[in-house]
Amino acid sequence: MHIGIIGTGYVGLVTGACFAEFGLFVTCVDKDEKKIKMLKKSIIPFYEPGLDELVKKNIKQGRLKFATRIEKAVESSLVIFIAVGTPRRGDGSTDMKYVEEVAKRIARHLDGYKLIVTKSTVPVGTGKKLRDIISKNIKGQTDFDIVSNPEFLREGSAIEDFMRPNRVVIGAKSQQAVAIMKDLYKPLYLIETPFVVTNIETAELIKYASNSFLATKISFINEIANLCEKVGADVHTVAKGMGLDQRIGPKFLHPGPGYGGSCLPKDTEALLSMAEENNVELRIVDSAVKANEKQKEYMVKKIKDAMGTIKGKTIAILGISFKPNTDDIREAPSIYIINRLLKEKATIKAFDPVAMKLASRILPEVTYCKDPYDAAKGADAIVIMTEWNQLRNLELEKIRKLLKGQYFFDLRNVYEPQRIKKAGFKYFCVGRT
Ligand SMILES: NC(=O)c1ccc[n+]([C@@H]2O[C@H](COP(=O)([O-])OP(=O)(O)OC[C@H]3O[C@@H](n4cnc5c(N)ncnc54)[C@H](O)[C@@H]3O)[C@@H](O)[C@H]2O)c1
Repeated sequence: MHIGIIGTGYVGLVTGACFAEFGLFVTCVDKDEKKIKMLKKSIIPFYEPGLDELVKKNIKQGRLKFATRIEKAVESSLVIFIAVGTPRRGDGSTDMKYVEEVAKRIARHLDGYKLIVTKSTVPVGTGKKLRDIISKNIKGQTDFDIVSNPEFLREGSAIEDFMRPNRVVIGAKSQQAVAIMKDLYKPLYLIETPFVVTNIETAELIKYASNSFLATKISFINEIANLCEKVGADVHTVAKGMGLDQRIGPKFLHPGPGYGGSCLPKDTEALLSMAEENNVELRIVDSAVKANEKQKEYMVKKIKDAMGTIKGKTIAILGISFKPNTDDIREAPSIYIINRLLKEKATIKAFDPVAMKLASRILPEVTYCKDPYDAAKGADAIVIMTEWNQLRNLELEKIRKLLKGQYFFDLRNVYEPQRIKKAGFKYFCVGRT
C-alpha cells in the first residue's frame, strides 16, 4: 500500500519512517525545500534518537521517498496523513492555516477514493471542517473519507512510542475507513495494541483531554513540591507514596521547573479555548496552566532568593531542551528562566548536548559552551535545567573548582542533596529541603 504524509516534522517524519518500516510505501512531503533536500540525502533536520538509521534504511530499501509537491503524495496514495503544525494563536486558540491549506491542495488532486487522516492535533470539529473544505475544492466527483488518528508519541522516544504505543485512536464515520486504518496498523494489532475506534469528534477530544490531564498531573506535583519545601516533607517520597496507589499511578509525578515543549502548553490552551467557545468551564485545566506559569517564575525567585542579587552574576545553565533526548526548545522552561535572568542583568553561559544551535537563534545574548565544565568556569552558580544523562554524573570536584561561587540549583532533582552539600556547594532543588 502507498501512503502520503504531509508535513515532515517531528511527527510526520517519525510516522513516515515507521510506516515504511512496517513495509508500506511512503511519500513524505514538506513545503520546506531545504528540509526535503536534506532528507533526500538522508540528513535528519532535527534530533531524535534512532531516526537517522530508520530513515536511511527505508530510503535504501526504496520504501521511503521525499517530495515538496503534495500531488506527488496524493496521486499515488490511498491514505494521506496531515501532520503539519497547529501552532497556537495569541488568544490560545489553534491556528489552522497550515491544515486548511493542505486540505485545499489535497482536494485539488483527489482522483479516486482516499482517506484523509489528521495526525496533527486539531480542535474538535476539524473533521467536519475538512470535509467541507475538500468538498468545495474537489474537481469532479470523487468519494473520500476523513479520519482522526491523533498521535501520542513523545519526542526523545518517538520511534519506540510509535512502534509500541499504549493505544491507537481511530475516529471515523465509515466502516471502510476503519478497515483501511486497521490494515495500516496491522503490525500493532499483532502485538495486541489496544485500538479505540470511535467517531471523529471523540478521537479529536481524546488527544486534548490526555495532554491536559498530563499537564494537570505535572502542575499538581509541582504545587505539592512547593508545599513540601515549607513543611519539611520530601516530594519524591510523597510522589512514591501516591503513585503506588494504582488509581493514581507513578508516572508524571516528578517535580521540576514546569512543563514545556511543543504540545502540553499549546494543547491545554487550545482545550480552554474550545471550552470557552462552548460556554463550558474547565477550571482544573485552567488552574494547571496558571500553576505552570507560576512554577517557572518560582524557579527564578528560588535563584534570586538564594543568591541575593543576580545583577552582574554569571549563571551557567545546563540543559536547554524542554526534556532530554530532543533538541526541541519550543516553550521550554529554560527559555523563560534564561530570559528572566537576563532581564535581571545576569550573564548567562549555557550548555546543552544538542539544543544549542536552535537556542542561539532565539537567545543570542547567551554564551554557548562546549561542555558543562566550560559553562561552569568562572560562574557564580550552575542550574540543572534538563535531566540529560550527560548531566547526571558531573565531576563535582572539578565543577566546584571551576565555579567562582558555590550555588548549585538542581531544578530536576537529579542529585542527592547530601552528596552535593558534602562536595561544598550550596544546594537548592525542588520539593526537598
Ligand atoms: N512534536 C510532538 O511531540 C507531537 C506529538 C504529538 C502530536 N503532535 C502534533 O503533531 C503536529 C505536528 O507537530 P510537529 O512537532 O511534527 O511539527 P513541526 O513543526 O516539527 O513540523 C511541521 C511540518 O509541517 C510542514 N508544513 C507546514 N505547512 C505545510 C504545507 N502546506 N505543506 C507541507 N508541509 C507543511 C512544516 O514545514 C514542518 O516541517 C502538531 O499538530 C502537533 O501538535 C506533536
